[in-house]
Amino acid sequence: MDATAPKLIDPFARAIEYLRVSVTDRCDLRCVYCMAEHMTFLPKKELLTLEELDRLCSIFISLGVKKLRITGGEPLVRREVMTFFRSIGRHLDTGALEELTLTSNGTLLRRHAEALAAAGVKRINVSLDTLDAAKFAEVTRWGRLGQVLDGLDAAADAGLRIKINCVALKGFNDVEVHQIVEWCGARGYDLTFIEVMPMGEIGEGDAARLDQYWSVKDLRAELETRWRLEDIPFRTGGPARYVRNEDTGMKIGFITPLTHNFCESCNRVRLTCTGELFMCLGQEDRADLRTPLRDGSSDEEVADAIRAAIARKPKGHDFDYSRQSVAGRMSRHMSHTGG
Ligand code: GTP
Ligand code: 5AD
Ligand code: SF4
Repeated sequence: MDATAPKLIDPFARAIEYLRVSVTDRCDLRCVYCMAEHMTFLPKKELLTLEELDRLCSIFISLGVKKLRITGGEPLVRREVMTFFRSIGRHLDTGALEELTLTSNGTLLRRHAEALAAAGVKRINVSLDTLDAAKFAEVTRWGRLGQVLDGLDAAADAGLRIKINCVALKGFNDVEVHQIVEWCGARGYDLTFIEVMPMGEIGEGDAARLDQYWSVKDLRAELETRWRLEDIPFRTGGPARYVRNEDTGMKIGFITPLTHNFCESCNRVRLTCTGELFMCLGQEDRADLRTPLRDGSSDEEVADAIRAAIARKPKGHDFDYSRQSVAGRMSRHMSHTGG
């Protein structure tokens, strides 16, 4: 095989080069669209060890994965997670891995920003849905905005580029989007708006999901009342489509699982902290990689299990709100597969 050829190709001829790894299902916040207030978390023995995670990620990299994103839950609450970052960062040095990055809620960045940068992380995505301290406490159920802002400062000081992930929520942050754009622009942060998806039982039923849904199409129209937005071809390898804000110079991304299905260009799969591989965020099918990892299988045999899973990757998700009902819902929470 040509060494430069992509090595994991799914049934729809998509090359799989992006692995998202959820290192823990735990989180120090309880965002209302993401988790129920009372969550049962996995017992520790179910989790892959950091060594197992490293082995598995390294096998994926040998199969052509070029972008690794560490997620959770909140990845930084996992004990010794920096050991994992430092070790997996070796694949950046060899050039096998092009990007090692992180999606975080920001609460622990003050403690870890320097170490992340030292491990080779260049940019991070931080979830932040509001700049109002009271609303932040409401949407995260108990988070403190000041702690996240302080974490962002620490990340910027450590030289990390920052992109803010903002879930578009009608009746919540719709009144604030211009302010959020302005704030990110002033700090040199990029910004991505995400349509809220029906992931997991959040304790409030379908009506709440539909009530909170604000399409990116409408959001963009709102933004255009104040900012000059120019479509640009920029891509990160993630699902967002970008515009340049001519007024602030920043990029704004839109992730549109509901209004525009981007699955035809999907290049990613998701590994959970227990070693399940989800071939799609919006489907139930999964492959168990923990068993081969623990039964003495060789790396080549684990690679075979990965190839067999990729051969089952579905065409896409079935999320749909267009008939005034929630279709395509997933029973698992976003924290299970890391978004
Ligand atoms: P970049 O590298 O910055 O492009 O990151 P990213 O957008 O891939 O990663 P991030 O963790 O910031 O993801 C943002 C959100 O986009 C995720 O949490 C999901 O909510 C959504 N998302 C990412 N990939 C998919 C996907 O394959 N399907 C669906 N439906 N949503 C996705
Ligand atoms: N719909 C859309 N985005 C979600 N996130 C968590 N739950 C949902 C949901 N139901 C986002 C978080 C974070 C990313 C990992 O996923 O805000 O930025
Ligand atoms: Fe935690 Fe992220 Fe889910 Fe919020 S969105 S509860 S920060 S995992």
